[in-house]
Amino acid sequence: MARILITSAIPYINGIKHLGNLIGSQLPADLYARYQRGRGNEVMFLCATDEHGTPAELAAAKAGKPVAEYCAEMYAVQADIAQRFGLSFDHFGRSSSDQNKRLTQHFAGKLDEAGLIREVTEKQVYSNADGRFLPDRYIEGTCPNCGYERARGDQCENCTKQLDPTDLIEPRSAISGSTDLEVRETKHLYLRQSAMKDQLDAWIDSKTDWPILTTSIAKKWLHDGDGLQDRGITRDLDWGVPVKKGDLDWPGMEGKVFYVWFDAPIEYIACAKEWADATGKPDAEWERWWRTDKGADDVRYVQFMGKDNVPFHTLSFPATILGSGEPWKMVDHLKSFNYLNYDGGQFSTSQGRGVFMDQALEILPADYWRWWLLSHAPESSDSEFTWENFQQSVNKDLADVLGNFVSRITKFCRSKFGEAVPEGGTLGERENALIDEITRRVRAYEGHMEAMEVRKSAQELRAIWVAGNEYLQAAAPWSTFKENPEQAAAQVRMGLNLIRLYAVLSAPFIPDTSARMLSAMNTLDTNWPDDVAAALGALPPGHAFTVPDVLFAKITDEQREEWQEKFSGIRT
Ligand code: 2FM
Ligand code: ZN
Repeated sequence: MARILITSAIPYINGIKHLGNLIGSQLPADLYARYQRGRGNEVMFLCATDEHGTPAELAAAKAGKPVAEYCAEMYAVQADIAQRFGLSFDHFGRSSSDQNKRLTQHFAGKLDEAGLIREVTEKQVYSNADGRFLPDRYIEGTCPNCGYERARGDQCENCTKQLDPTDLIEPRSAISGSTDLEVRETKHLYLRQSAMKDQLDAWIDSKTDWPILTTSIAKKWLHDGDGLQDRGITRDLDWGVPVKKGDLDWPGMEGKVFYVWFDAPIEYIACAKEWADATGKPDAEWERWWRTDKGADDVRYVQFMGKDNVPFHTLSFPATILGSGEPWKMVDHLKSFNYLNYDGGQFSTSQGRGVFMDQALEILPADYWRWWLLSHAPESSDSEFTWENFQQSVNKDLADVLGNFVSRITKFCRSKFGEAVPEGGTLGERENALIDEITRRVRAYEGHMEAMEVRKSAQELRAIWVAGNEYLQAAAPWSTFKENPEQAAAQVRMGLNLIRLYAVLSAPFIPDTSARMLSAMNTLDTNWPDDVAAALGALPPGHAFTVPDVLFAKITDEQREEWQEKFSGIRT
């Protein structure tokens, strides 16, 4: 049994995620986790909310709540939606946990001991009225380029020019509106990534099976311009992990916190400790996933994320781990995704554009979305959600192909043989050809799933469903029954066994429907079909079953138009 550690990029706490976020990391990670469990492997699947930094502070301020309270509420909301989408995390943690705080401070201490931290004095805007330093995006003013009056200190939204806060005309605090601002000196810690450049370069070179998309991004950061730059890992904010070296205070760093991108990936590790603590397990249980000196040397670690997250996962986080000099497990495979667009534009959290996870579940069950999103995953390029395409895919793949197959065979059996697997007849040439085809396709499906080729896996699964439909169409037990009821019984037996087989194979994509299929087939046998011929005999003659309710309802044109209209605007 292999041991597989899986992490999905941890979503920011500020609001409910849209479908583009979902397909960019959590959903494909869940597909892979469910598949690996289905194959009988031991899986640890971790995710969490990313709770620190400016976005969390801003969102809390907008909601008029203390940030800790806002995060606790949003965590509960995100955890609930994740569960309703069938995301099968072994633990859904929080980057604001005590475990992460300690581990983040521990890493900082180790990096400092290794001489990999340096202190830098910088100039930053301070707001007297707010009594705090302002991050660039907390400063607003008039754009020197286009005259837009609400340009932010990092960028003008109107003309997209990258700005420095000091470029702004009549700068003011975005928090209080105060113009009583001054430039002050402040001290920050920098991670000396430049000193680890060769080590990181060699590590990336050892990853010969990584996609070019991933390694080329890392290589660009390593070699372009002056090469890999040191990175600021502290901020003048209230909300975050207080800057300490392990348990010790860090002189000169009082009142400062670590940068959100420093503590967020460390949460991947801390999350495992949260899991152990929450379930009353000793530390050895989580350490066997993360410490190569404590059993993690035989773990395969796979990360899932959107392409914008790649630099942090190929350089900054590895720099933290390598720099600590401690035996932490490092990533073996990194699967990254392009973007999913929405109906001719982009999904956008800040602009409320697109379909958000809670809204999606209000109109259709999770499996409809899971199937569409996974079968259209933005792998080799960006992809686009349109309502027409969604309707077509649901109606064809789920309703016509899979749903119809299950309905036809179970109803036919009930009407002619009753609600039990019929006895009699033998397998003929047609059945053997079907077994051969499905065997070939299941092996291909396994190959794509192992390789995390999400779209190809979906295509192969669909082809496996189609093969059953075509068999049923050609065998036509409703005709056979008139001449040769024994042979029709063998055909129906094959069909009912295909339903169980489909439930097992489809579970990673459509887990709820798969459970309904197994329940209708009255079986707990979820064994993976290593031997397809044997798997198609799992339900023996006489085995009782029931006819399930319609598995997938078709999306009507009226519904499509209604939803198209409903989701054309902006979510407030
Ligand atoms: O892009 C994002 O949504 C980030 N919150 C991802 C963080 S992933 C990790 F490093 F923690
Ligand atoms: Zn401008």
